[in-house]
Amino acid sequence: MRIALSTGGGDAPGLNAVIRAAVLTALGRGWEVLGVKRGFAGLLGEDDVVSMTSDSVRGIAHLGGTILGTTNRGNPFKWPRPQRDGSFLELDRSGEVLVNARQMGLDALIVIGGDGTLAIADKLADKGMRVVGVPKTIDNDVAGTVTTFGFDTAVNTALEAIDRLHTTAASHDRVMVLEVMGRHAGFIALHSGLAGTADVILIPEIPFQLSKVCEKILARGKAGRHFSIVVVAEGAAPQGGTTATMGPSMPGEDRRVGGIASRLAHEIQKATGKETRSMVLGHLQRGGMPTGYDRLLAARFGGAAVRAVEQQKWGHMVALQSPHIVTIPLKDALHEPKRVDPSHDLVQTARQIGVSFGD
Ligand code: F6P
Repeated sequence: MRIALSTGGGDAPGLNAVIRAAVLTALGRGWEVLGVKRGFAGLLGEDDVVSMTSDSVRGIAHLGGTILGTTNRGNPFKWPRPQRDGSFLELDRSGEVLVNARQMGLDALIVIGGDGTLAIADKLADKGMRVVGVPKTIDNDVAGTVTTFGFDTAVNTALEAIDRLHTTAASHDRVMVLEVMGRHAGFIALHSGLAGTADVILIPEIPFQLSKVCEKILARGKAGRHFSIVVVAEGAAPQGGTTATMGPSMPGEDRRVGGIASRLAHEIQKATGKETRSMVLGHLQRGGMPTGYDRLLAARFGGAAVRAVEQQKWGHMVALQSPHIVTIPLKDALHEPKRVDPSHDLVQTARQIGVSFGD
């Protein structure tokens, strides 16, 4: 057997631990393993395809990022070709991926990615490619799996920030607004906010009202607590309003989600008269060492992905359905995105211990 691995989309802590486990599991079966650089670029002749040995994966399980490199502009069905004016033309180069994979003698491809990359993997599987997926995202928004590696690390990074903001907020009697990642799903904000005892948690799944946020802050003041911590997911939006966005990363691309914290801080200060500061945690949540939980989940996913190849589970992805790692059709996972259920016990508990969701 000759298999290849690729990592696509935004990185997440634990990718290297998946790569290590998959490579060692496959080598243990006497298979040959290749690493495709920068998403699918290596399969389009736009980057390298390298041989993976036990030496290639030595000492990487604890490292953030991915030794294979990644990109969120790597969709072979919409491959961006730069134009003179700085914009991009999109070409369908998926056929080339299949031809090149065949020429390389690949028996299977393990694609490690979030919903975008897994949707590409699914389309390649429909075209006849032997693909197995591994779900990855710090946002925890891939359905069919209890969680994804990277999420626990991101929550812990956000939690540390909340803890640090608490002491400075309390010392200055300020409101601190922390923006965490989560374009469409509020899992990072909910989990880190509840664990970090935030006073207000704002998530995309529960549109908020500024007046309710301010009510909570003022009520705390009346009760003698003159500081407040607001944790807001970047994709949270006011009722009847829109998500905050910044300019596109590259000409011709969609605007990037972000900027809600500074907008909110300004509005909270104006409405409550309380000094308010904001900060955006940003890509700190994506970098750095994966937690023990994420390393373990990543290792389990990597091993299970190779076993899925052995069982010819084409078009499937590995998933955690506690306590087991299972395989499910990619289509089932991609059918509906995973979002915070506003009736989930985490939300109920948060509300019952006084957290405001601004609704
Ligand atoms: O999808 C994960 C994510 O971390 C989002 O929460 C965030 O908006 C996005 O990636 C940012 O990605 P990039 O800066 O790589 O475009």
